[in-house]
Amino acid sequence: MYILRVFSLILVTFSSFLSINAQSVQPMGQLINEQFAFAAKQLQVLDRNVPDSMMPRTFVPQTGSMVTSNTKWWCSGFFPASLLYVYEHTKDPTVLSIAKKRLAIQEKEKHYTGNHDLGFMIFNPFGNAYRILGNPEYRHTIDTAAMSLVTRYRGLIQSIQSWNSNKNFNCPVIIDNMMNLELLLYVAKEGANPQFREIALNHANTTMRNHYRKNFSAYHVLDYDLLKGSFVGKNHQGYNDESTWARGQAWGLYGFVMVYRYTQDKQYLEFARNIATFLLNHPSMPKDQIPYWDFDAPNIPNALRDASAAAILSSAYLELALYTQGKEKERLIQSAETILRGLASSEYRAELGQNGGFLIKHGVGHLPANSEVDQPLTYGDYYFLEALHRYNDWIINGQGFLKTNRP
Ligand code: GLY
Repeated sequence: MYILRVFSLILVTFSSFLSINAQSVQPMGQLINEQFAFAAKQLQVLDRNVPDSMMPRTFVPQTGSMVTSNTKWWCSGFFPASLLYVYEHTKDPTVLSIAKKRLAIQEKEKHYTGNHDLGFMIFNPFGNAYRILGNPEYRHTIDTAAMSLVTRYRGLIQSIQSWNSNKNFNCPVIIDNMMNLELLLYVAKEGANPQFREIALNHANTTMRNHYRKNFSAYHVLDYDLLKGSFVGKNHQGYNDESTWARGQAWGLYGFVMVYRYTQDKQYLEFARNIATFLLNHPSMPKDQIPYWDFDAPNIPNALRDASAAAILSSAYLELALYTQGKEKERLIQSAETILRGLASSEYRAELGQNGGFLIKHGVGHLPANSEVDQPLTYGDYYFLEALHRYNDWIINGQGFLKTNRP
C-alpha cells in the first residue's frame, strides 16, 4: 500500500512537471500572432512620434528623445516596409493608411544616387507594397530605383561603389551591399533589364573573391583603388580591422542566400552554408544566438549584444533552411526560433508605448563612432517582422515561395 502511494506521488509530480514544461513553451504560431498584434499598436505609437515628413531612426532611452531621419538616410525605407508586413498579417486598415502615407514621402528617393542603399530604401518598402497591394506604380518605382543603383557600378572592380569617396576611403565597397543586389535581381527577373542581373552577379562574385577571409568571416569595408583595382580590408563599424563585426556577417549570409534564390547557382548556396557554419559554431556565439556586436569584442561576455544582427540572422537562417535537408535544416530552424523567442521576450521586446514606439531594444548601430549604441534600430524591427512572417509562411504553413512570390 505504502509503495503504491509513493509510486502515485511520483507519477503525479512527474506529470505536473511535464505539463508545466509544456505550458511554458508557447507555440510559435501563437507567439507570431501576438507579436504582429502588438506591432500593429506599437508602430502607431511610433508614427505619432515622428513628423509626417520624416522617418524614424532610433530612440535614446536615457533622455527619452526620438531621433528621426530624412528620406535619404539609408534606413528610411524600413518603417513603411515594416508596416506592410504588419498589415499583411493583421489586415489592420490604420496600419495600411500609415504605410501609404510613409510610402508617399519615400517614393521620390527612387532617383537617389548618393549611395548604394536603394535596395533598403526602395526595394524593401515598395517590394512589399507591390507584392501585397499590386499597384503598378510601385513596380515603376522599383524599376527606376534599379536604374539609379547601377550608376554606381564600377567596371574595373566589378562592384557597385557603396559610399562616395571621403577622407577615410577612396572607393569603399561594404559587405552590406550584398543586400541591395536584390533590387537588381528582382528587376532583371521581372524582365525590365537583364543587364542588371549581370551587374549584381559580378558584384556578388567579387565579394566572394575579395571580401571574405579564409574562415568565412567578412571585412566590413574593402577600400578599392579605382586606377589599380587593388584593395585594403577595413572594419569601419567593427572592433578593429581584423575583427568579425556581427551585423556585417549577417548581411553577407542573408545576401548570398538571396542570390542563390534568384540564380539557383550552387556556388552561392555553398558559400552561404560556409558562412552559417562559421557563425553557428563560433565560440563567441551566445546560447540564445543573439550575437555580441562584434565576435572579437574584448569584453565578451560583458560586451553589448546587437539585436539587429540577430534579427537579420534569424531571417537568413530560415531561408537557408528552405534549401537544406536533415539535421542541418533542423539546426537552422531551431537557431532562428531561438533568436525569435529571445527577441520576443521582455529582455528585448519593448512594452506598448515604450522605446519610442520601436519594437526591439538593444541594437548596436555604430559603436566605434558612439552612435546608436544599445538602442532600437528600424532595421532590427523590420528583420524581426520579416523572420516572423517567414516562419509563419514557410515553417508553419509550408507555403514556400510560390505563394508568397517575394519573401
Ligand atoms: N552600414 C549599415 C549598417 O550599419 O549595418
